[in-house]
Amino acid sequence: MRENLVLQVLLVIIVVLHLSRRPAEGVRWLALAKMSWLGSLSEEDGCDRLAGLVKRQKRLCRRNVELMDSVKTGALMSIDECQAQFQNRRWNCSTTDSNRLFGRVILKQETRESAFVHAISSAGVGYAVTRACSSGQLRKCGCDRTVRGRSKDGFEWSGCSDNIAYGSAFSTAFVDARERGQRRKNSSRALMNLHNNQAGRKAIEDNMQVECKCHGVSGSCEMRTCWRAMPTFRRVGQLLKEKFDGATEVKSAIRGTRLVLMPLNPQFKPHTEQDLVYMESSPDFCEPDPKLGSLGTHGRVCNKTSKAIDGCDLLCCGRGYMTRKVKLVERCRCKFHWCCVVKCKQCERIIDEHVCA
Ligand SMILES: *[C@@H]1O[C@H](CO)[C@@H](O)[C@H](O)[C@H]1NC(C)=O
Ligand SMILES: *[C@@H]1O[C@H](CO)[C@@H](O)[C@H](O)[C@H]1NC(C)=O
Ligand SMILES: *[C@@H]1O[C@H](CO)[C@@H](O)[C@H](O)[C@H]1NC(C)=O
Repeated sequence: MRENLVLQVLLVIIVVLHLSRRPAEGVRWLALAKMSWLGSLSEEDGCDRLAGLVKRQKRLCRRNVELMDSVKTGALMSIDECQAQFQNRRWNCSTTDSNRLFGRVILKQETRESAFVHAISSAGVGYAVTRACSSGQLRKCGCDRTVRGRSKDGFEWSGCSDNIAYGSAFSTAFVDARERGQRRKNSSRALMNLHNNQAGRKAIEDNMQVECKCHGVSGSCEMRTCWRAMPTFRRVGQLLKEKFDGATEVKSAIRGTRLVLMPLNPQFKPHTEQDLVYMESSPDFCEPDPKLGSLGTHGRVCNKTSKAIDGCDLLCCGRGYMTRKVKLVERCRCKFHWCCVVKCKQCERIIDEHVCA
């Protein structure tokens, strides 16, 4: 009897240990977005007070205190961009008050939405760190000085090229940290998160632009100097939203001794490094479910004429909608006065607004 009990207790302990090591909540570090005192993080032990970080991330924080403000900026930028891209969808990327920021559907499930949040936030950190490097205010990194010499298009590489290699490398080290330790644990969710994190960084790396300045007599462009610059973060958000729309549903499979992700439907072409992948279909997000992270769509403004997801039919989940009059105040009848002011009147317009029942 006694031995039996000991055995059972041991079993429970093993199960609990196993569960606690599951690669859940890959984006818990986004909680940094809420920490107002982060800017004053200077003394090294401050890193241990940061909620939502795993050991490896705290270690990186201690070694790179000067980058932590950029990590926070990256978190804020990515949440803003997520909300902009999803403003007309049932799930609109709204965050919760708790410091977990997102509900189960992002933190613990393997949905498209979770794929997007992983990708945009890992892109956000890469972006913000790269920008901080270019600002010239960091000790550890600066502009990319490997972009040098004369290009074949006849211009001179010069100026400050964005050091995306550095930003991406830091994002990989920091954002992937929670899953990295789990990779050996052979978990398909860790693989999924790592893939989507990488796809987010790719959206910047693969879309670097060339920006130039002209030199020469009176504004002619006899000489040009150019540098490599990141796309706008809005562009990165758009690219990833397109990847969200075309995301591939995958399953895990064993190849040799390695766990890999492959399309659920073998007739589909395999996903590329740039694509987002998911393993679980999303809930419909029609009704509020705080644990899930769904606010429901009651009271949301919808578009009466649209047949897409922002239209009243789909957004309101077939419950119907109400119409109310709202007053719109606009600048109007603007006149140009010589020289140089524009004066406008304020006009009021009454419009119909439709909201989900
Ligand atoms: C992953 O797990 C499978 C069984 O689920 C096993 O056959 C394989 O050897 C494991 N691979 C590694 C690298 O642990
Ligand atoms: C998202 O929708 C909820 C209602 O479901 C609304 O209260 C909230 O303001 C919206 N958030 C954003 C960022 O649009
Ligand atoms: C509503 O949807 C229609 C059709 O998609 C579109 O032309 C229109 O601009 C939308 N209106 C608003 C206010 O977004």
